Amino acid sequence: MTNKAENVIKEKDLVLIYQDEKRQFLTQVVSGLRLSSDLGDLKLSDIIDKPFGFVGKTHLGRDFYCLKPSTADLMMKVKRTTTIVYPKDLGYLILETAIGPGSRVIELGTGSGALTMVLAKFIGPDGIVYSYERREDFIENARKNVERAGFVRNVEFTCAEIGQKFFGQNDVDAIFIDVPEPWAIVPAAAVALKGGHHLVSWSPNVEQVKRMVEALQAHSFQRIRVKEIIEREMLVRLQGVRPRERGITHTAYLIRAQKVIAMQ
Ligand SMILES: C[S@@+](CC[C@H](N)C(=O)[O-])C[C@H]1O[C@@H](n2cnc3c(N)ncnc32)[C@H](O)[C@@H]1O
Repeated sequence: MTNKAENVIKEKDLVLIYQDEKRQFLTQVVSGLRLSSDLGDLKLSDIIDKPFGFVGKTHLGRDFYCLKPSTADLMMKVKRTTTIVYPKDLGYLILETAIGPGSRVIELGTGSGALTMVLAKFIGPDGIVYSYERREDFIENARKNVERAGFVRNVEFTCAEIGQKFFGQNDVDAIFIDVPEPWAIVPAAAVALKGGHHLVSWSPNVEQVKRMVEALQAHSFQRIRVKEIIEREMLVRLQGVRPRERGITHTAYLIRAQKVIAMQ
């Protein structure tokens, strides 16, 4: 838990500068820089040494709020080179594994690094995320995103095409797979994963799910389950409370399975 002394905004901290639902900026505090919106400018040096929660005014006299970014904010505001996993799905997927502080985890593919940073945060300084990606330029972008969020120290990035190649690790505590052809990765995953532990994967289309489940069955994975998490945001207003008409309606089907070892 953050104590009072630590709850102060410092140079290089990430702060969510919130004005309203349309104007919220994940900002790294660098003195000398300004943040501008149509509600006015603010000098970032003016919020250094203020507590998180501080309410300031732009040069046009409009309020802004200095909020602590959530883990979901860090994910959703990465610089994207790919689609990313969404918080509603990742919350479920992490809880479907047994990982925690100190775990060793494989991720494929790195993409924009949204998942990488959450895994790195979750496993803590004594754990390690082995993150695989076939595109060096995506790794570079992801590394910057994870670094900015402050979690790069316990991530090892590898540029490789998995499927052609196997992972370089054995006995990892969980494997997270986010690629268009996850079934091609199952043989490599079956070798790298600890017995009894969890493989999770997610795909947008039913056809992909079918092929993936068949591949998992062929490699003796058990407790295979597929779910979809549907999220509905509520509008709470004086004139009435009801679900928002628009939003993200479909992201992916989520698959979880556990590796078993047949003894002779
Ligand atoms: C949807 S993105 C992953 C997004 C990531 N989960 C995130 O939250 O930012 C899929 C990534 O997998 C990579 N990829 C696809 N197949 C691969 C393979 N066989 N080996 C290595 N990387 C692969 C792609 O280049 C792409 O960057």
